[in-house]
Amino acid sequence: SPAAQAAPAMRIPYGSAVRGDALVDDFDYRTALVEHCQLVVPEGGLKWEALRPSEDRFDFYEGDKLLAFADQNGMKMRGHTLIWYAAMPDWTSSIRGGKAAERALSKHIRTVVGQYRGRIPSWDVINEAIAENPRGSDYLRPNLWLENMGKGYIETAFRRAAEADPKVQLVINEYDIECVGEQFKNRRNALLRVVRDLRDRDAPIHAVGFQSHLKGQYEIDKEGVSSFVAELKAMDVDVLVTELDVIDNLLPADEKQRDEVIAGRVTDFLQAISDANPPTAILTWGITDRYTWVPMWFTRDDGSPNRPLPLDRDYKAKPLMEAIERFTGRA
Ligand code: G3I
Repeated sequence: SPAAQAAPAMRIPYGSAVRGDALVDDFDYRTALVEHCQLVVPEGGLKWEALRPSEDRFDFYEGDKLLAFADQNGMKMRGHTLIWYAAMPDWTSSIRGGKAAERALSKHIRTVVGQYRGRIPSWDVINEAIAENPRGSDYLRPNLWLENMGKGYIETAFRRAAEADPKVQLVINEYDIECVGEQFKNRRNALLRVVRDLRDRDAPIHAVGFQSHLKGQYEIDKEGVSSFVAELKAMDVDVLVTELDVIDNLLPADEKQRDEVIAGRVTDFLQAISDANPPTAILTWGITDRYTWVPMWFTRDDGSPNRPLPLDRDYKAKPLMEAIERFTGRA
């Protein structure tokens, strides 16, 4: 049966992104996290915007709060994310020149990874480095660091992170690399190019994070995903699923039908990865449809609420939860 085929020999940890405000306000949310998760990751609490109110201040309030929750409940916490073009505080726009940029990047990574040394086992070092539509030598997304430091900013970030905590899993995290289509394929190839370059230079990179915001209207490129994961494995680079959800604005209105399509896409996707090398972890970007970023960008024309996550708004498990549990070994 497909379920038996999917079942791995060992358990894969499952987790969710967590909103700091809901963690405080919503008892049922906490209960659901405790019941289902072995891993948590702050949805925003460790981004520059949250951590760096000014150039000389670090605010670890949100990170510490979630880490305390994780500790109390026997979970691990991932770190998201050290370097990203978005969620940057305004003051960073005054950073100019290669030296100043390198100093700022190094100070941030050293301080933040150092703060949680030995307590955060896996970090998204680089988030969304690949251009939206990579073409030829234009394969990296423009950001403050690329502009000032050139493409070496990626290597520098990984080296600083490894110095600050030599035991941590260092991850490059990327979206839109999962589905069928030319753009997805180009983005996978551009990402491979970055990873190969880092390995050639002996830079410390350990895994690729598939964000996995799957676009429900597209099929999974099963062959493309499997061969991508196999190429990474040949370089001794693992994979993990960091931000799984299914964007459902273009899926059927009927909820039951929609939930089946969503679970099917995720099954195809997790199977394609596992065929080449099982992921070291599977995290969804939220656990309940009550708290999800998806309607910020992908509201449905029929006005019905999005259903991208494993639990519905009343914390009832949907087929997506079962689909995930077949891979984590909990079903
Ligand atoms: O906290 C305020 C709230 O007080 C206010 O009422 C509300 C009004 O709009 O805004 C709230 O803040 C928003 C926050 O999400 C709430 O969770 C921010 O404006 C909004 O920018 C922020 O968006 C986050 C986004 O990253 C940018 O940081 C999303 O929650 C978060 O899900 C999203 O996550 C990203 C990953 O980091 C990287 N991969 C893609 C993923 C989805 O876009």
